[in-house]
Amino acid sequence: MGHNILAPSILAADCADLRTEIQAIETEGAEYVHIDVMDGVFVPSLSFGIPIVESVRKITKMVLDVHLMIIHPLKYIKQFAQAGADSITFHMESEDDPDEVIDAIRAAGCKVGISIKPGTPVEDVYRYLDKVDMLLIMTVEPGFGGQPYIPESTARIAQARYHINSNALNVDIEVDGGITEKTAATVIEVGANVIVAGSAIFHGDAADNTRRYVKLLSEKKVGEVL
Ligand code: DX5
Ligand code: ZN
Repeated sequence: MGHNILAPSILAADCADLRTEIQAIETEGAEYVHIDVMDGVFVPSLSFGIPIVESVRKITKMVLDVHLMIIHPLKYIKQFAQAGADSITFHMESEDDPDEVIDAIRAAGCKVGISIKPGTPVEDVYRYLDKVDMLLIMTVEPGFGGQPYIPESTARIAQARYHINSNALNVDIEVDGGITEKTAATVIEVGANVIVAGSAIFHGDAADNTRRYVKLLSEKKVGEVL
């Protein structure tokens, strides 16, 4: 396993000044930019679609980490890939067959992520892990930024990391929701290595916040307490 990666979520950014926001996080060492796509059905909110991915692609070399919170991911995989997504994560709880979605993302040339909501048993995702690059464990109910981290998530991350390591799978664990300096340290200790943070980065000075989190992430070793 490599180093820990920071993935700022632009859901919390100032979209009228997205270029400045993106430049600030890139300059300070964020490697991924996390783009939340919501359809108002899988989750209550609406957020970004394909044009945002296209625009962000033009102004950054960071990995575009697209998180689809939509009921029919299959329908849109090609369009997100063409728009410049590097990695596409869909929800196991969506209405499409996970095996088909995984194959479609792979065929489109992107890295594959599969995500589970807080109420989905971790074991349910095991059967897909040998086909994906990343497991996104939601640490809040998907749909909104700024929610508090769900404490039960810690045991779920540890369980997934144990399963991944003991089966010699090469799968990153991404966490998303309620990340602060304190919860970032906790999730890394139990095995997460890709850390999404929205409010923690974009509320306040994005450059200063990114610098602080990149440093914190570099000082923590994945799975330290396992
Ligand atoms: C929530 C989104 C998150 C959100 C995280 O459904 O998937 O990516 O932006 O925001 P914070 O870090 O504020 O919890
Ligand atoms: Zn997200």
